[in-house]
Amino acid sequence: MTRWLVRGGLVATCDDEHTTFEGDVAVDGGAIVALGPGAAAALAPPYRALDARGCAVLPGFVQGHIHLVQTLFRGMAEGVPLLEWLRRYIWPLEAAHDEASLTASAELGLCELARAGTTTILDMGTTRGHDAVFAACLRSGLRVIGGKAMMDAGRGVPKGLRETTAASLRESERLADAWHGRGGRIGYAYCPRFILSCSERLLRAVAEAAPARGAHVHTHASEHASERAAVRAIYGASDVEVLARFGLRGPHVVFAHGVQLTPGEMARLARAGTRVVHCPNSNLKLGSGIGPVRELLSRGVRVGLGADGAPCNNNLDAFHEMRSAGLVAGARSGPGSLDARAVLHLATLGGARALGLGDRVGSLEVGKRADLAVVSLADVHAAPALDPLVAVVFACQSRDVRHVMADGRLLVRDGEPLGFDAPRVAARAREEARRIGLAAGVL
Ligand code: GUN
Repeated sequence: MTRWLVRGGLVATCDDEHTTFEGDVAVDGGAIVALGPGAAAALAPPYRALDARGCAVLPGFVQGHIHLVQTLFRGMAEGVPLLEWLRRYIWPLEAAHDEASLTASAELGLCELARAGTTTILDMGTTRGHDAVFAACLRSGLRVIGGKAMMDAGRGVPKGLRETTAASLRESERLADAWHGRGGRIGYAYCPRFILSCSERLLRAVAEAAPARGAHVHTHASEHASERAAVRAIYGASDVEVLARFGLRGPHVVFAHGVQLTPGEMARLARAGTRVVHCPNSNLKLGSGIGPVRELLSRGVRVGLGADGAPCNNNLDAFHEMRSAGLVAGARSGPGSLDARAVLHLATLGGARALGLGDRVGSLEVGKRADLAVVSLADVHAAPALDPLVAVVFACQSRDVRHVMADGRLLVRDGEPLGFDAPRVAARAREEARRIGLAAGVL
């Protein structure tokens, strides 16, 4: 395996002290083996060098809520709120997916993510065909925890997505057996989509099955007021109460969104150790509101950051998400309530901890896996970058990403994705999007 010296950058370790220094990062066997001006001494020659002069060297970004299967639907579901968005566009489109379109969608998303410096994701698929998504993830070199969506109930769920409870559990188990731990970079997450598409029996079964396999549980919760009202009409309680009643709580459980959480529910999540992933752009686009990030962090809840899916964003870009997280926190809780360091923490070590990966990734520290992004601070839109962390969060853009590495493997060099033929990925996505859009009756 190639040994690397990332040379001459401003290293922003994103550790708990936000340590930064000028120097090098030495990588051997896929791990960080030394940091600092003399890091090269830790590498036995031969090794290869990556030039990071004029750049910040950061941990690869962690995004805790992504739908790779929806990347193909970018721009196809505009201007409606959550439940209408799902029933009118997203579910029919997902129901029309086949192996070719799932592969095209996952590759488009993974290429976009890698190109913009994201190296770890928690992903939710659709109900069928998830082997194609995992296969694309494995080829991509990114670190992925993911799983098929589970949907055995609910109003407006098309026939092509709805499963029986037993079949949903069986397929999730088969996928977990086949993919959990593959390549050291793939993990399984049981993904009951949300309460409105899952039976009580399914949710209770997931609560038992996931911990027994060391798997995560990933679901949407407390996203939109109309979703909460529909849950209350069925169960007479809030979605967070219902999920906890069925056993879905604890450090292996990751809720996407949490926009509508009450102070009492936040305290409950903090006590149980349940994680929340903030998706500011998706929440704005679907009119869901502004998530209570400052309040969650103050109560000790572990929070990550995620772009969600392309049709409710429209990008999977950690720079957009960081900037929006800082800005909407200002609108909700006052300017500076989530400063650049706090935002960067959500996108790196905080996000990694929310996914239970904080001992492996999320900061640049000796012994951690070598997941990193080299980001230029030199262009006019980022200069003078006297505080490089403020520049990264609020001024830099994905086009500033020079090099990206995951597990010591170079994924992007000089701004070019190495594992993907990006123009081919985009052209294939265009063809497949048209085909699936027509089949779903959305185009
Ligand atoms: N709730 C249930 N499914 C979805 C989805 O695909 N995206 C979002 N944003 N919320 C959901």
